[in-house]
Amino acid sequence: MIAIIGGGICGLSIGWRLAQAGRDVTVFERDKAGRAASWAAAGMLAANAEAEPGEERLLPLLRLGQEMWPGFARELTAATGEGVGYREDGILVVALDRDDHERLKFTYDYQRGLGLPVAWLSGREARELEPHLSRRVQAAMLSERDHQVDNRRVMEALEKAFRQAGGRLRENAPVDEILVENGRASGVRVAGEAVMVDQVILAAGAWSRKLPGLPENARPPVRPVKGQMLALEGAPDRPLISHIVWGPDVYLVPRDDGRLLIGATVEELDFSTTLTAGGMLDLLRAGWETLPGIHDLPLAESWAGLRPTSRDDAPVLGPGPLPGLVYATGHHRNGILLAPITAQGIAHFVLTGELLPEIQPFTIDRFAA
Ligand code: GLY
Repeated sequence: MIAIIGGGICGLSIGWRLAQAGRDVTVFERDKAGRAASWAAAGMLAANAEAEPGEERLLPLLRLGQEMWPGFARELTAATGEGVGYREDGILVVALDRDDHERLKFTYDYQRGLGLPVAWLSGREARELEPHLSRRVQAAMLSERDHQVDNRRVMEALEKAFRQAGGRLRENAPVDEILVENGRASGVRVAGEAVMVDQVILAAGAWSRKLPGLPENARPPVRPVKGQMLALEGAPDRPLISHIVWGPDVYLVPRDDGRLLIGATVEELDFSTTLTAGGMLDLLRAGWETLPGIHDLPLAESWAGLRPTSRDDAPVLGPGPLPGLVYATGHHRNGILLAPITAQGIAHFVLTGELLPEIQPFTIDRFAA
C-alpha cells in the first residue's frame, strides 16, 4: 500500500497515476481535497513568460509540464466527463511606463536569447489584440504558447478520476506522524491509528516541512509564501480580455464563465491567510491601471493561498535520505503547470525504482551542502 500525504493537485495526480497502474493508494488530506493552494491558484501555464535569469535549470521541466497539459486535460475529461477550462489564448505582458518598458525589454531579450516563442509588440499592436487595455500601455510582449486551465475544475475532475480508478481519499484526516522503523518510513499515524505502508509520498504543499516524525535531515526546505487574489464578475459573452494579461505587479486571467481573476500578492507571513486592505488595494490599483474597464465590475470573491516555496524556488521531487519516503512538494508558483510531469515522474519512480532524467536535478540532495 502507498500513502500520499496531501490531497492537492500533486498528491491527487500522483495518486491517480498509481491507482491507474493498479496500486493500492490512499491520499490523506488534512482538510478537504483540492481546497488549499490548488484552489487558490490562477491556473496559468506560463513556462515561457515566467522564465527568469537564474532559473535555467527549471525551464526544461516547466516546458515539459506545459507540453503535457493538453493531453492531461483531455485524459481527465475523457475519464470523468468534466471540462477543465483548458484555453490556448496566450499571455500578453504589458508595460505602462518607461521603467516597465526597460524591464520588459530586458525580459524579452533574455527569453528570446533562450529561443522562447515570445514576440515584441507596440502599444498600438497590443491594443489591437486587447482593445480594453489602458491607453498608457506603450509596449508589450506576446507569449503565444502560454495558456491556462481552470484549476478549480481540474481539482473536481481529478478527485473524481482518482476515486474512479480505485484510489481512496481520506479527508479531514491530518497525518499526526510519519512513522519510521529501522531507518525507513513505514507508515503514517492518523487519528490515533497507525497505517503501515510500503511507501509514503510527501505532497503536503506548504505544510511539508512541518510533518511530525520526519527526521531533521529529511525535512524539505519548503515554506509558505502567501498570495492574495480576487475575482470580478464579468459577462461571459462580453469579456474585457481574451488573453491572460500581465501588468506591472498584477495578472488578470479571464475565465470562460466571465470571472476575471486578479492576482497575486507575494508575502512571507508564515501560515497567515488573512486578506488585507493593502493587498486588495495593490491588486485593484494595478489591475485598474492596466485594464481600466474593471472599475464597474462586481466583486465576486477574494481569497488567499499559500505557495509551497523551496529554498531555490524549484520543486523537491523523488527519493531522499529516508528510505520509503518520496517527495513531491515545493512547487512554488508552478504547482498547476508541473502537476502532469510530477505525477508521471513520481509514479514512475514508485513503480520502477528509476528516476526519470528530467526529475533527477530536483531531488532534495541538492540542498545537502
Ligand atoms: N503562478 C502565479 C502565482 O504564484 O501567483
